[in-house]
Parts: sequence; C-alpha cells; structure tokens
Amino acid sequence: MTIFRARVLDTPTSPFAGGTLRSDDDCGLLVGDGVITARGPFDAVRAEHLDEPVLDLREGLLLPGLVDTHVHFPQVRVIGGLGLPLLDWLDRYALPEEMRLADVDHARGVARDFVAGLVDAGTTTALVFGAHQAPAVDVMFEAADHWGLRVTTGLVTSDRLLPEPLLTTAERAHAESLALAGRWHGKGRLRYAVTPRFSLSASEAMLEACAATLAEVPGSLFTSHLNENVHEIREVAALFGGASYVDTYDRFGLVTARSVLAHDVHPTDAELRTLAERGAAVAHCPTSNAALGSGLFPLRRHVEAGVRVALGSDVGAGTGFSLFKEGLQAYFVQQLLGPEGMLLTSAHLLWLSTAAGADALGLGDEVGDLSVGKQFDAVWVLPESGDPLAVGLDNASSPDDALSKVFALGTSSDVGGVWVGGEQIAAGRWRSPRLR
Ligand code: GUN
Ligand code: ZN
Repeated sequence: MTIFRARVLDTPTSPFAGGTLRSDDDCGLLVGDGVITARGPFDAVRAEHLDEPVLDLREGLLLPGLVDTHVHFPQVRVIGGLGLPLLDWLDRYALPEEMRLADVDHARGVARDFVAGLVDAGTTTALVFGAHQAPAVDVMFEAADHWGLRVTTGLVTSDRLLPEPLLTTAERAHAESLALAGRWHGKGRLRYAVTPRFSLSASEAMLEACAATLAEVPGSLFTSHLNENVHEIREVAALFGGASYVDTYDRFGLVTARSVLAHDVHPTDAELRTLAERGAAVAHCPTSNAALGSGLFPLRRHVEAGVRVALGSDVGAGTGFSLFKEGLQAYFVQQLLGPEGMLLTSAHLLWLSTAAGADALGLGDEVGDLSVGKQFDAVWVLPESGDPLAVGLDNASSPDDALSKVFALGTSSDVGGVWVGGEQIAAGRWRSPRLR
C-alpha cells in the first residue's frame, strides 16, 4: 500500500445538479491493489497507517485521471488539418490516412503515437474510435493493454459512400466484430465498442448487424457520430426517408444507456427527448466543432432535456489530446452563445473531463473521482516552476480559481505523473510501458 499526499481536486457530484468542487489541501489517499481504501487529512491517514510508504505530491495538484469519450486512433497523424468543413476534411485528411492502416506495421506505429498522446495528456480512460481494418484494431487493443489504459474500442464499419478500401459488408463486419470482441472484450481494462462510422456511411443492413453484435457482446458499448454538420444532416435525412439523425440509430435499438454519440451540435427537441429517454450520452467535442466550423454546441438544451454530456477531444478533427484545452473551448463556446449558453465554472469543466466521462462510459463506479472505493487513476499537474501556470497556482485566490488556471493554461507539458489502477505509467517526459 502507498499513501499519496497531495492537494486533491475532484467532483464527486455533478455541478449541473448542485455539486461543488471538492478540494483537500493536504489530503492522504491510501491505495492498495490499485484501489483507494482510505481518504482524509494526511495526518489522520498517516496516523492509522504508520508503516506505509508516502509519496509526497504536494507541489502542484492531483486530479482524477481524465476521460476522453471520443477520440479517433487512426487520426493522430492528421491533427491540425485546418480550413475545411466535415465532409471535405474527411476526404482530404482523415480517410486517406485511415486507408494506410491496411498496413499493420503502419497501424502499429500509429497506435504507439496515439497511446503516447493519451498518456501525455493525462487521459487514463477513453472511448476510442477504432479503424476500418480488423488487424489495426487488434494493434490498438494490444497497445492499450500494454500500457494498462482503460480503453473501449472496436472495428469501424461502413458499407457505402466512403472510398472502396474502407468499405465492408454487414456480414463481414458482424463476423470480424465478434472475433475482435472475443479476443479483447473484458480482458484487463479493455472493452468492445460497436462502431458504425456514421449513418451516412452505414446502410440499414449494416445498422442491423451492429444491433446484432451489440446484443451478442454483453457489456459492449455503442458509439457513432450524430448531428455534426448541417450538410451531413441533410444527406442523412435524404438517405433514410426524412428520418431524424437520432432515429436512424434508434430504429435499430442502438440508442440506449450504453450509447455514446459524438457531437450533436444541431439536435431537434424531439431528438433530445429520445436521447434522454434512452439514457444515451453525448460526447461534446468543442475544438473539433470549432476547427470544422460545425457550430456552437447547445449545452443548455442538452442539460435541460436531461441528456448526459461529457467531453471528447475528437482527435484528429480536434486539435489535440488535452482535455484541459477541450474544457477551455467548451467554456468559450458557452460564452459565445450569449443568453443561450451556460456559464461554466472550473468545477463544471473538471466534471465534464472526468466523472461525466466515466458515467457516460458506464464506469462511474470505478473511476471519475478520487473517493474511497474508486480505482486510483490520477493525473498530477506539475508545471515548471516560473511558468505562467505555476505562477497562477501560487497566486490563486481559491481552489476553484486554481482549477480555472489549470484549464486556461494547462497543457500536456504540465502533466507531471499519470497513474492507472494505482500503477504509475508516466512521469513528466518519462513513460513506462507496464511490465507484465
Ligand atoms: N463523422 C464521420 N467520421 C468522422 C470523423 O472521422 N470525424 C468527425 N469529426 N466526424 C465524423
Ligand atoms: Zn469523431
């Protein structure tokens, strides 16, 4: 067992439901077998466990491991392709790169770059949009397993309107998905996600096959894209006889409490009602929405309708892995919406980047905050002395103010350590593949 001594900030209850930031200046977290078994003032925890070693992290701040609910593994090398709307961006940047993952050695290099991006950003749990090629998905699972990350991913499936090398059939998608799930679902911290790319590129037969896979893999998640771009939405409606975008998934039973749908920038009220009734979650990806000009996310309408919302980086349309940047951009978007926006405090931003994500992924009992009984997944924010974030933290007027500075100024370079299940996997520029 180890006692972690730190200034700990987390959000065990939602600020959208009256929760506030929990801040403990000199906190002791006793961790055994990866689980937090005691929490309290350091002196009190220490007095009860005099023989246990202490790891002193009092410089900087300790936060729960960050949770990214929407991030594309094959797109790490195309981050930063600016200037195009969604469908042109897919044609120009994303899809050509995704075709290259047919070469499994290339896919292995991409998976290595991708996992490094997550770890360096302090992301310990992620719902990862996989690849169109089954061997590339195997490679992604292997990389996540090697590092011990909590990753849910799967085969991306499409049977129309994409370049031919990315297409498959419903039958083949079903068979390959079941085989992948058989190899990986439930192994360590890994789970399977049924992943049609979007209903624009998935026929009714493909969505039916997705429903079959979901039913045959108990505990699997469903993820896809939703209502991202007005042009895309019109095309989807035309393909499905005027149906709403949510309905294209819902009519196949794909909208449930185990569904995470990315974007939803342009929902109707009826669609929000359906998402809320089904208990589905939305991955809000604010840097992607800005970079592609998709629009300003109507957070207030989601919250008022009772739809669960968490954050996603949407790499590579999103501009990086850091959920601090996504949190800040989410704040900006709500400011820009004027009276229709929601004023987000730093506690909201932490909630959206941690516990809300854990809840969206069905992992709310395991991770998302640093309470007793939770896994010790944590990120240590430790800016270089003298840099603006360090100066800001030294001069913060309150814990909420300190946390605002983390979202305003924090980057992957400020991550001083990352733990998953009590195991340290990174420290500053040092990363450690777990030893098995
Ligand atoms: N819709 C379908 N595919 C994608 C993708 O790769 N990125 C984004 N942002 N939207 C999509
Ligand atoms: Zn996406």
